[in-house]
Amino acid sequence: MRLNRKLEHIELSLGQSSVEGATGFNDITLVHNPLPQLDWEDVDASCVFLGKQLKAPLLINAMTGGHPQLESINHGLARAAAAAGVALAVGSQRAALEDHSTRSSFTVVREANPDGVILANLGANCSLSEAREAIAMIRADGIQLHLNAPQELAMTEGDRRFRGLLENIGHLAGQLEVPVIVKEVGFGMPRESIRRIAGAGVTLIDVGGAGGTDFMAIEQARSGRDAGFSWGIPTAVSLLEGLAEENEEVCLIASGGIQHALDCVKALSLGCFLVGMARPLLKILIHGSVEELTLYLDRLIEDIRRVMLMLGAKTVRDLKNAPVIIEGQTYHWMCRRGID
Ligand code: FNR
Repeated sequence: MRLNRKLEHIELSLGQSSVEGATGFNDITLVHNPLPQLDWEDVDASCVFLGKQLKAPLLINAMTGGHPQLESINHGLARAAAAAGVALAVGSQRAALEDHSTRSSFTVVREANPDGVILANLGANCSLSEAREAIAMIRADGIQLHLNAPQELAMTEGDRRFRGLLENIGHLAGQLEVPVIVKEVGFGMPRESIRRIAGAGVTLIDVGGAGGTDFMAIEQARSGRDAGFSWGIPTAVSLLEGLAEENEEVCLIASGGIQHALDCVKALSLGCFLVGMARPLLKILIHGSVEELTLYLDRLIEDIRRVMLMLGAKTVRDLKNAPVIIEGQTYHWMCRRGID
């Protein structure tokens, strides 16, 4: 049952296409700098995440694992992440906690990428011992706890219990030996939720906004019951919501529908710390090869550096000083929510 679900998630997500403009990033314009006063070699996109150096602030976001048939996908993602110097999160490790024979589909990630940043992944309702087991399984540098109520509700077999998640997140963040990252899976977050998560002691938050992979639509396609509406807060809007908190301890990760280097640099210029991508990378791996995915990531980093140079930003940190214009629906949302 679980394998079928995971294979269907892959197949149905690859069949989806992003709706133009749905992330809100089309409402964001970066202002060209004709006098960057930098040479190409001066531009440095690298950053440090969880104590390790990345070539760029990029994360291959959580996708799969939990069955021997999924091992080659995780192996490919891990090899590409290692070669390109970006971080990687595994998909939910729930299956491997229940059936130890599926563990190799996760442990292969650490074998293929012994020194890189690798994140464990479980639902935010997991217990402390389950989180510890997931982390130990792949010697993870941190653990993502995912929030996905709209997905669960659209699943016939999905969870219906969401009470107490915040308290559980706080408990895990206080007890675990590695940092906790709370993430949405594509429905976004408003500032109030970001404030509550930060208040529970979590400073790494992936806003996982709408505009990319749509898990409500995927589950509706699986169950054959289409509710006829879509749901969620666009990624750019979620990011602006989080930044409005002006909590310097909170590091935001932007993910959900990120398409190319310009989206990445827009998100970084708004003030996020890391950018996550899932489906577009899976597509390249499955329809192509590890080499093609590595080349894509290398070129993505090169393109990020190109945009940085065109903005006159020597480092990722400098991007936060680049002027940004916000228009359209995103601007309207900010006005209505009192965000300036
Ligand atoms: C996911 N995603 C996901 N997230 C998570 O926290 N645990 C998981 O097990 C999975 N599984 C999963 C499978 C597949 C096939 C895809 C495409 C995605 C969600 C993912 O990490 C990300 O939040 C969303 O996909 C939004 O990003 P993109 O795809 O729009 O870049």
